[in-house]
Amino acid sequence: MTSLVVSSQKGGVGKTTLSINLAHAFARAGVRTLLVDADPQGSVGLSLTRQSRLLAGFYDFLADPGIPLDRLVVPTRLETFSLVASGQASDYESGGGVAGSYLARVRAFLRAAAARGFDLCILDTAAGLFGVTGDVIASSDAVLIPQQAEPLGIRSVPKLLEGLNRLRVMNPRLSVLGVVLTMVQQELAESLEAAHALRQLLPQDLVLQTAVPRDALFVRASARGLPVGVLEDGGGAQAVFDAMRAEIEAKFDIQGNRSPAFG
Ligand SMILES: Nc1ncnc2c1ncn2[C@@H]1O[C@H](COP(=O)(O)OP(=O)(O)OP(=O)(O)O)[C@@H](O)[C@H]1O
Ligand SMILES: [Mg+2]
Repeated sequence: MTSLVVSSQKGGVGKTTLSINLAHAFARAGVRTLLVDADPQGSVGLSLTRQSRLLAGFYDFLADPGIPLDRLVVPTRLETFSLVASGQASDYESGGGVAGSYLARVRAFLRAAAARGFDLCILDTAAGLFGVTGDVIASSDAVLIPQQAEPLGIRSVPKLLEGLNRLRVMNPRLSVLGVVLTMVQQELAESLEAAHALRQLLPQDLVLQTAVPRDALFVRASARGLPVGVLEDGGGAQAVFDAMRAEIEAKFDIQGNRSPAFG
């Protein structure tokens, strides 16, 4: 199983939106995908299952070695797509504790998910590289870093690169899949200029070709608790994530990790 963490130092850059929609794109392509809400604020769960606040989830697994993964996995209408909510114990875990405290439990979680037959585990995290987020990063195979394409975003590039270096120190075998430009506004010169400038400032192969446009559909989709592709008019937005999936698969052999028994 490949574990892919979605991480950023800044909040509100589109991590949860990216996690949900990319996980859905992989699942639709037949990859057995587990989407994990590793943000103690629980936004994936909020968005996808309305009763998620009542579900045991990732943080319960971290807190209680007695909980089997089976109790946490929530199926969806798509056979290849399952979720693990943030959970109850997340109320007590700020995610801001000392990195390393939950390393062994995070790794146990990923081993359990692999044993259950998932090909891909996408983990949405809280902003920052500390605490449980740090432990998730230190345990994952690959990372994606969303970055808002706006003039202010450019100013945070040095921090972004610094953050990347910290990621590599935390986990030398971590594959940096790249930076994903999010909330790009095609009709706004400033947004396109910012996207262009980010591509100039960052190493070339570090920025994914596929960028996420700013689109009210994403807000509507999360309000209705769905990946955007499920909306009647979501086909265009979904195509963006299909393209991103293909781009990621070309960079990183997720399919190669699928068991021969599948497909
Ligand atoms: N491409 C987009 N177009 C329009 N709105 C978007 C887009 N991506 C995200 N949003 C909206 O922006 C807000 C922040 O997005 P999101 O929750 O995905 O960010 P986040 O990085 O997970 O935030 P946090 O750090 O708080 O977890 C949400 O209201 C979301 O619906
Ligand atoms: Mg989020």
